[in-house]
Amino acid sequence: MLAFEPTHGHGVYLQDANGREVLDFYGGHAVAALGYGHPKLTEALVSQARSLQFQSNIVPMKIRDQAADALAKFAPDGLDRVFFVNSGAEANENALKLALKLTGRNKIVAMEHAFHGRTAAAAAVTWGAANSWYGFPRMPMDVEFVPRDDIDALEAALDADTAGLIIEPVQGLAGGYDFSKEFMHAARSLTQRVGAMLILDEVQTGMGRLGQPFGAQLYEVQPDLLTTAKGLAGGFPAGAVIMSNDIAKQLGAGELGTTFGGAPMACAAIIAVINVIREENLLERVRTTSNEIMQKCITGPITGLQGHGYLLGLVGERKAAAVRNALLEKNILTGTSSAPNVLRLLPPLILESDHVDQLAAALKEIA
Ligand SMILES: Cc1ncc(COP(=O)(O)O)c(C=O)c1O
Repeated sequence: MLAFEPTHGHGVYLQDANGREVLDFYGGHAVAALGYGHPKLTEALVSQARSLQFQSNIVPMKIRDQAADALAKFAPDGLDRVFFVNSGAEANENALKLALKLTGRNKIVAMEHAFHGRTAAAAAVTWGAANSWYGFPRMPMDVEFVPRDDIDALEAALDADTAGLIIEPVQGLAGGYDFSKEFMHAARSLTQRVGAMLILDEVQTGMGRLGQPFGAQLYEVQPDLLTTAKGLAGGFPAGAVIMSNDIAKQLGAGELGTTFGGAPMACAAIIAVINVIREENLLERVRTTSNEIMQKCITGPITGLQGHGYLLGLVGERKAAAVRNALLEKNILTGTSSAPNVLRLLPPLILESDHVDQLAAALKEIA
């Protein structure tokens, strides 16, 4: 745990009880899409709390329809149906279940170094989990991992038993590893060829983080199923599985279920997040400011950079944990990754140029 205990937040800054202010380049694992205390998000939550704090999906609710509609419009064309859940792992669990069930097959192909969550199926497709923290006595399906960007290996792994391929367009925990466009396009055409579903895990890459609504639009790849969470409701717990009408039509009543998913507070927050991203032109902001990070932050201990938008891995020779600690001493919060030498940046989408200058200056001062 870090040596900083925030009690307040405003914009891209966190503050502790003693008034120490820290510039946040990590966003609470990519969740604080609008930073802290955004007036429109606060107002949406307060106003929903006043009118109706909870009801489940046993009843129709206008706010849920509005949130689903807003999210479907934000998502790639053709993905028009939304099932709301509570977290990234739950979204992936449901997407994997749909792929297995609707194809009637029993194997999922996943990428080396991937992270998809800590529940049984999501963890089964998470690289390295089976040998470390998995914890369940057996896997819920067959899983084959493929080296990143290896199109031949992918082609060999996808066979007539394959229900789906799950992939993060930019791997988050792995340190902002961005797949080549060729590989992502091959992922689409090769899954189609064997009748397997393409599941894009956009839990971390979604909701504008890559400078497009989703990685699907950045890479121009149409998935069968898309999952998202983290920044979706700006800090209120929420996740979603987004799919086509064709897939939704194949689902029977009660096949997907949840108590809290799609509850009104989360829906109010989701609508506010999408509205603010549009009104404040945050996708454009992410694209331009990300370029500034790329130009200015290869300095001090940093020798290279990977990723897209505001999901960036700063690569260096020193251990990322040491660089992160040194930056925190200078009141800048960053994150590590599963790659020991890659420091991860996941700032709120409202981050601006002068914050980048502060990070670049702090990095320069670190020997
Ligand atoms: C790409 C990806 N998928 C899934 C998850 C799991 O999400 P959650 O922690 O909300 O269950 C994460 C969390 O870090 C993630 O980065």
